[in-house]
Amino acid sequence: MKFFIDTANLKDIKEANDLGILDGVTTNPSLMAKEGITGADNILAHYVKICELVDGDVSAEVIATDFEGMVAEGEMLAALHPQIVVKLPMIKDGVKACKYFSNKGIRTNVTLVFSAGQALLAAKAGATYVSPFIGRLDDISTDGMALIEEIRLIYDNYGYETQILAASVRNVMHIINCAKIGSDVITGPLSAIEGLLKHPLTDIGLATFLADFKKGNS
Ligand code: E4P
Repeated sequence: MKFFIDTANLKDIKEANDLGILDGVTTNPSLMAKEGITGADNILAHYVKICELVDGDVSAEVIATDFEGMVAEGEMLAALHPQIVVKLPMIKDGVKACKYFSNKGIRTNVTLVFSAGQALLAAKAGATYVSPFIGRLDDISTDGMALIEEIRLIYDNYGYETQILAASVRNVMHIINCAKIGSDVITGPLSAIEGLLKHPLTDIGLATFLADFKKGNS
């Protein structure tokens, strides 16, 4: 399973990358705004900085919501750096733009996916990644993980190559359950990724080992 970090924060990206387990980065306009990155030129420059920090795919989201606008913006984003994946919203023109880019060999990530039907359309349009938002479904008392299961089943039934990129991942259990189901990728904040490290018995065991070593060597 690939690990993407879901942030525009360069420090967090570097931290996850230094751990040696990072496969890519996802961003969205809200994450850019959170880091105070505003204005087209600054946003584009920030994508390039992210691409220079990591080796894998970096999703950059279009702002346009019409087909022509998405195509123009997506082509400009894809030309920025070979690691850029064009992120498109799951709306009618987004599906059309996805098909357009897939015909041209430009990688895409169809975002804001909340149903199996939307994920089926994204695969039919040739999306490289589909991003179902687990956490936001959980937020409205709907089982986000059940959606990942449904999409896995449907994609496996037909051999769709679109990768399931479980998004809006908020915690360790989201990551573990995605791994059990067979999600191709998860994207979440540094806290969720680093949460995988933690177990109290590891900390207690290490403290005991170090204390015993000290006793024997003092
Ligand atoms: C996905 O690409 C989105 O950026 C993201 O995962 C949304 O997560 P949130 O629901 O925690 O904002």
